[in-house]
Amino acid sequence: MRNFKVSSLLSFCMICTLVLVSCTKNENRTESKDLYPEDYAKTAQIVNLPDQLLDYQINLPEYYNSFSLFAPQINDAKATLGRVIFYDTNLSENKEISCASCHDQSLAFSDNVAFSKGINGHLTDRNSLALGNAINFGAYYGPGRIQFFWDDRAESVQEQSTATFKNEKEMGMEMSEVVDRIQENPELYDWLFKKAYRGDKTVLEDKVLESMTEFINSLGSHQSKFDDGMEANYGDHTRDFHNFTASENLGKALFTANCSSCHSPLAARSTVPLANNGLDMVYSDKGVYDISGSSNDKGVFKVPGLRNIELTGPYMHDGRFETLEEVVDFYSTGIQNHPTLHNILRDFNSGNAKKMNFTTEEKAGLVAFLKTLSDDEVTTAERFSDPFIN
Ligand code: HEC
Ligand code: HEC
Repeated sequence: MRNFKVSSLLSFCMICTLVLVSCTKNENRTESKDLYPEDYAKTAQIVNLPDQLLDYQINLPEYYNSFSLFAPQINDAKATLGRVIFYDTNLSENKEISCASCHDQSLAFSDNVAFSKGINGHLTDRNSLALGNAINFGAYYGPGRIQFFWDDRAESVQEQSTATFKNEKEMGMEMSEVVDRIQENPELYDWLFKKAYRGDKTVLEDKVLESMTEFINSLGSHQSKFDDGMEANYGDHTRDFHNFTASENLGKALFTANCSSCHSPLAARSTVPLANNGLDMVYSDKGVYDISGSSNDKGVFKVPGLRNIELTGPYMHDGRFETLEEVVDFYSTGIQNHPTLHNILRDFNSGNAKKMNFTTEEKAGLVAFLKTLSDDEVTTAERFSDPFIN
């Protein structure tokens, strides 16, 4: 580890304490023959899954190790069950919507509209958040850590999934109804539950949520051009990357100077979890304020991770910007002097909203840099894809 800043060190140490490293060996991986061939034959009529489970283990680039950052162990059988649930439209009130309707793999598990369509033509209140974003959700999300949703209102994937299933605009289902719908489909689910739960096919709410969590925790983006540059530089993002163009390196330097104190230098997670970034003087959606009631929280939203940002537009909680160029224009000259605007986006001397006044070349560099955060692996990997045959 060389030339590596104290501020980064602090943020990485925060991460380190959050990562759970489990040493349990995944039992299923060593299995040579499937134990439930009759159940498998039925399941294989409905979903395209090999009888040998796919490998969900997260392989982080080596430079993460130099920050003592290790991926948690993923249970392949639970992640596979979670994947099927994630893509099962049968689990919404009108049997038309699944998690994947608004979290599309080819778009890094976001969608391409400002507001997403849920059951019965309802639209969501906010822009869908990308899920292929964090290195892994298990490391960064949960009680007392960075939380879920634009306003931080859910503490865990379990809580978030329950809220999403119940949301009358999204899926419109109580968890007990989700369990019933799964039970009504033993041809599909018996094999999956038996694989995940030592031969026990009983459907329970806890198992549903646990397996969804396992799948979501396995989503991660860490094979981008940016990661290749980090790897070659032994984790030092402050020096130019050899695999970057001059424009991308310019963008990286500008990003480090102006953006990375909120959107972390690693770009895998956010260092400031919540902030008002000055979109408006008056917010119609007040963000965290609607949960906390504190006037300091007006216009405060989650700082989103920027992995795969090229694919996840439109941007901001209400999808107001169509392109990254518009986002960069906004930060360059458009930041509003709202009372709760974060200090990092205020001019040090005047205290007013910062004017970054990027040149045309600098704007192009920032956009070019943001595009180095895309990871083709997450958007194409079979283990994350829709397994349903029809
Ligand atoms: C109708 C569209 C829709 C459906 C269906 C949907 N989501 Fe979402 N999802 C969203 C939107 C919109 C947000 C952001 C909402 C907010 O912050 O208020 C979101 C946020 C999330 C988040 C939080 C991400 C973060 O970084 O905070 C997770 C995790 C998530 N969804 C997982 C799921 C899962 C699992 C399912 C299926 C059980 C699901 N979603 C179904 C639209 C949808
Ligand atoms: C004070 C913290 C802060 C700083 C500094 C900051 N941002 Fe943000 N950024 C945010 C917040 C908060 C949001 C979400 C705001 C919302 O939707 O209401 C956001 C949203 C974004 C988004 C849209 C993400 C999405 O998924 O819709 C992009 C892209 C972005 N910022 C890029 C940048 C760039 C480039 C810079 C530097 C020029 C920068 N940010 C500086 C806090 C910050």
